Amino acid sequence: MKTYLVTGGAGFIGSNFVLYMLKKYDAIKLINIDSLTYAGNLENLKEVEGHPNYTFVQTDIRDEKKISELFENNDIDYVVNFAAESHVDRSIENPSVFVETNVNGTLNLLNVAKKYWTIGEDQYKPGKKYIQVSTDEVYGSLGDTGYFTESTPLDPHSPYSASKASGDLMVKAYADTYKFPVNITRCSNNYGPYQFPEKLIPLVINNCLNKESLPVYGDGLNIRDWLYVEDHCKAIDMVINDGKQGEVYNIGGHNERTNIDIIKTIIKHLNEKVDASITEDLITYVKDRKGHDRRYGIDPQKISDALGWLPDTAFEEGIIKTIDWYLENREWTQNITSGEYKDYYTNMYK
Ligand SMILES: NC(=O)c1ccc[n+]([C@@H]2O[C@H](COP(=O)([O-])OP(=O)(O)OC[C@H]3O[C@@H](n4cnc5c(N)ncnc54)[C@H](O)[C@@H]3O)[C@@H](O)[C@H]2O)c1
Repeated sequence: MKTYLVTGGAGFIGSNFVLYMLKKYDAIKLINIDSLTYAGNLENLKEVEGHPNYTFVQTDIRDEKKISELFENNDIDYVVNFAAESHVDRSIENPSVFVETNVNGTLNLLNVAKKYWTIGEDQYKPGKKYIQVSTDEVYGSLGDTGYFTESTPLDPHSPYSASKASGDLMVKAYADTYKFPVNITRCSNNYGPYQFPEKLIPLVINNCLNKESLPVYGDGLNIRDWLYVEDHCKAIDMVINDGKQGEVYNIGGHNERTNIDIIKTIIKHLNEKVDASITEDLITYVKDRKGHDRRYGIDPQKISDALGWLPDTAFEEGIIKTIDWYLENREWTQNITSGEYKDYYTNMYK
């Protein structure tokens, strides 16, 4: 029975991954560690709370003692590192915590895993692997054409993407220097259930339902490449099982959309489904984000050729599933935007 140490498993993608894995595999043990920042929410994991193969431990990925204890007491096979500060706007306001978690936290996980997995110089217990969940944002911004491949030079622009790129390079350094078993994944923008409503899609859904204005940065024509979160989870699972030593895998489903397109799609759906007074009049253009990347676009050829990964959910289907999920789970959004972390939510786009 393989044992997974998943970090940041109470966040958006991490919780989807925990649910995906426990549904897919009967015979795995999964330990989820999360420090429960404003973005971590155990409500996401209610369904697996009592699952016999699942354990939650509240801890920080920078806590060497706690992480060591977990390795001491469990024969961990895989570390899957989702834990991160993940919001670009916050990184512009306060870069330090991004370096703390996304760089120092990553380094701490690498060090502890290396210590417990080492059996000789540059030799590790068989079957062990560290997976760094990264982002297409490390590649910077594209012009009107072309795609990010795994060999596109890293050129991050925001403190968030710079901290993720630094974490990635540390993982690469461990593979190059110590032959440490790793993979790095770089995925495009995710959407789906359990995303904190500071991010575009859940924010727009929630504001529409509350008849609040819909802030749009700049001209609204920035392009992101969207992937349904479950397709990301599927890709990570494949990389864990079959990824080649030290390789990077880009993950994306060729679903490029401008921000304004996304917003109009959500308005149209909610207008028809919920309330005819939800209209484009709610759109409010605001001053552009500092250093705002214009376009992201992933070339997923490598993961699809090497591992056979293809996305299952087309954008048109995924966005409707997502909107419906937020409609059916309004309490979830209300709980996290009215509690202890209320200011985190309402301060955005102030
Ligand atoms: N959301 C996207 O579109 C996207 C796309 C590509 C890659 N990623 C990457 O995927 C990962 C998960 O992203 P997300 O959107 O789910 O983020 P999120 O902000 O929703 O979740 C992050 C989780 O990490 C936890 N965390 C933060 N700091 C921690 C620390 N020091 N110790 C332990 N736990 C800590 C938080 O409590 C939270 O549960 C990140 O590494 C992110 O860079 C995200």
